[in-house]
Amino acid sequence: MLAYRHAFHAGNHADVLKHVVLAQVLVYMAAKDKPFSYLDTHAGAGGYSLESRYAQKNAEASGGIERLWQRDDLPPALAHYVALVREFNGGGKLEQYPGSPAIAHLLLRPTDPLHAYELHPTDEKILRAYLSSRKNAKVVLADGFAALPHELPPPSRRGVVLIDPPYEMKTDYARTLGAVREALSKFATGVIVAWLPQVAVVEARELPRRLFNAAAAAPKGALHARLTVAEPGDKGYGMTGSSVVVVNPPHGLADTLREVLPFLKEALAQFDGASFLLDTR
Ligand SMILES: C[S@@+](CC[C@H](N)C(=O)[O-])C[C@H]1O[C@@H](n2cnc3c(N)ncnc32)[C@H](O)[C@@H]1O
Repeated sequence: MLAYRHAFHAGNHADVLKHVVLAQVLVYMAAKDKPFSYLDTHAGAGGYSLESRYAQKNAEASGGIERLWQRDDLPPALAHYVALVREFNGGGKLEQYPGSPAIAHLLLRPTDPLHAYELHPTDEKILRAYLSSRKNAKVVLADGFAALPHELPPPSRRGVVLIDPPYEMKTDYARTLGAVREALSKFATGVIVAWLPQVAVVEARELPRRLFNAAAAAPKGALHARLTVAEPGDKGYGMTGSSVVVVNPPHGLADTLREVLPFLKEALAQFDGASFLLDTR
């Protein structure tokens, strides 16, 4: 039984970090003529109403996209990301938030295949409908971790993999590490983007280091970007921020994040101790 619904969290600080990084990676890949494949192992619904009862429950977008929406002083990468969200909203008010496959849909060219896996039947159905007009799109109701080895390497030998599980089950930490190892063994030059929560469990604390170790043989190394925006709750629980690890990061991504992360730290802070980290290997 899948309890997690991304609709509760759409557009929060973690989505902002993940989707800015993803958009930058996709822009870089699309700048070259040759096609590339996009694989989303945990795709979600592709779009979320920010006015639904899910989104309104904790109003998480108010600590994320809503804080950037009206700003006119955004660094270029953030301005580009907000423009994508605006495009998804048809240029009007902020009412909908695009998930990762929608961001890919906006940035991929018609020749770039988009493959998305999602286990929740409702979200998979919504995503399938959203991408139905896109040639080269495949939406599958199946376990994205299990599918990953069968998807790699992509025929074009250029590709981006997003690994974005809910981490509601602790096994997701080990499965993410296993997926990155497996992806690299089949497709050493692939760009892998893995999102992870900043929560007070040892698995979360250790995962960036373990992913770095797994990426030791990756030709372009790895990058870890972390954004801490909140204090832990009373009992030390709760998500205080999140990280994105990018294996084989595109040239220039670290420099872009050096500009983006300090801005996000200020813009999305929920307490005085907000911080960021950028580590490259
Ligand atoms: C964090 S959300 C994905 C958000 C999406 N990547 C985005 O950025 O918009 C994680 C999704 O993974 C789905 N899920 C959980 N376990 C899965 C699995 N093993 N394979 C595929 N999807 C899974 C959940 O139903 C949920 O929709």
